[in-house]
Amino acid sequence: MTSRSGQYLSKLLYYLPSRVFKAIAAMLSPMLRTITQPSVPHIKKRPRHVGGTMHQKSMETFLEGVRELFAAPLDVTKLLQLSGELRLEYLDRLQSSPISMLPSYQHTLPSGSETGDYLALDVGGSTLRIAVIRLLGRKADGSSDRQVRRVRQFEIDKSIRDLSGEAFFDWMASRIGEMLTMYGHMTGNASAQLAMGLSWSFPIEQTSPRSGKLLKMGKGFRATEECSGHDLSELIMRSCRKKNLNVVMRAIVNDGTATLISQAYKDPSARMSLIMGTGMNASVYLPVSALHRSKFGDRPQAWFDAADHVLVNTELSMFGKSILPITRWDEDLNSTHQHPGFQPLEYMLTGRYLGEIVRLILVDAIADAGLFDGQLPDRLDEPYTLDTKIVAAFEEDASPNLAAARATFLKAHRMRNKVSQSDLLFVQSVARLVSRRAQAYLATALHGLWTLRTEAERLEAGKACHITVACNGTILEKYPGFRAQTQTYLDKLCVLSGAAKGAVILEMAPESSLFGAAVAFCCLEGT
Ligand code: GLC
Repeated sequence: MTSRSGQYLSKLLYYLPSRVFKAIAAMLSPMLRTITQPSVPHIKKRPRHVGGTMHQKSMETFLEGVRELFAAPLDVTKLLQLSGELRLEYLDRLQSSPISMLPSYQHTLPSGSETGDYLALDVGGSTLRIAVIRLLGRKADGSSDRQVRRVRQFEIDKSIRDLSGEAFFDWMASRIGEMLTMYGHMTGNASAQLAMGLSWSFPIEQTSPRSGKLLKMGKGFRATEECSGHDLSELIMRSCRKKNLNVVMRAIVNDGTATLISQAYKDPSARMSLIMGTGMNASVYLPVSALHRSKFGDRPQAWFDAADHVLVNTELSMFGKSILPITRWDEDLNSTHQHPGFQPLEYMLTGRYLGEIVRLILVDAIADAGLFDGQLPDRLDEPYTLDTKIVAAFEEDASPNLAAARATFLKAHRMRNKVSQSDLLFVQSVARLVSRRAQAYLATALHGLWTLRTEAERLEAGKACHITVACNGTILEKYPGFRAQTQTYLDKLCVLSGAAKGAVILEMAPESSLFGAAVAFCCLEGT
């Protein structure tokens, strides 16, 4: 049978009522496949397709299905209920969890009058940043000032993430050496020894203000292999000694904690922080009594005598499993992840995963609904190839023909066929649904944490004073509308729980990991 008759047959079938169509299609499909494949060789990639046009309708149905799964749970009363369930999970982990709700050694917030020059390190999911920070203390107008005097940024790509054990810390020491050489700090004279503060974007069990046990790392890092539980400060210092670097580790804090300390240096209302970049996390300043004593490990009595509050690294990414509704695409992502179930919230919200969720949906839509006329764009079938930046480009592009988004997409994922307007609009709709869910779930998690803190401080939601959440990370900084929409959900949840709109404000705190590593140093000296 020629392809012309095949097309004629498919047209004929299209107009039949759907259930009759399905019965006949099932019967004829083996024959149809042979009909379609020969005429359009690339269709081979399309397991279940019959001619392009037929799928318009089903693209709509498919999208409706996605909308149902991503938007339905986002009604604010439902989110309030989820916030309550998350709060219970937080309370439970404040009593017992070796990997989340981790108390730092930080029991005081900075006064803003701290001063001095410090070497600050910031190890993130995709960059290592090394800087000399100058804290200038309070200015005449009462505000506090600080400066990044010198800074070097080193990319952490897959080859670095794949370094296991000591090799990773040797790499870090080489970069510190490069920075010190570049700025003429490479002297052997002991008096010129440089004190370092480290912001570490991974969980750590603190054993002193300047040391802690290395815990499991997400974000695709393998550094913990061979040295999980080892002392992080000693690992870094050993590599630095091997290179004769005249430095000493004086403070270690998680990046979430660093961000809160940095904001508190200039804003006394800062009580929580939020990181949303490759990974996600939050820190909160809580009464020591909110945590079970066993969470503090072996600390000198002097610490407990001095501390009535403590900065807690929540590891917020690790919450929400079997609380927050998920979809089959989330299950797909999790089942093939290096650490399934380790950071459920992160796998639905952050820069490392938003693109991947959208990719999984698009691949299904190509197979099941004829998106891109059933053609798989180059490399789109490989995991983690759809960068969240491309998804953001679809949300950014308000032009009717989505020309900029199309160009960004095709640059990374070339296609032989022309991409239709409805394909582009489809991708844009999916991007919006996935990011909207992320904003709602993030606001819900933050609201749960704020409620927990409000109660731990014995405040009433209605009377609770306004607090600032110090924010850092590329998604909050650059993803179009992300922070504003999260703020909108947060306001709605605060009002629904009896507080004023604006009781919790998301405030960007740029460079806060570096500043925080330096300020932490000052606050921790003498503890
Ligand atoms: C990951 C890490 C956490 C870090 C966050 C943001 O979730 O587990 O420690 O704070 O990413 O960088």
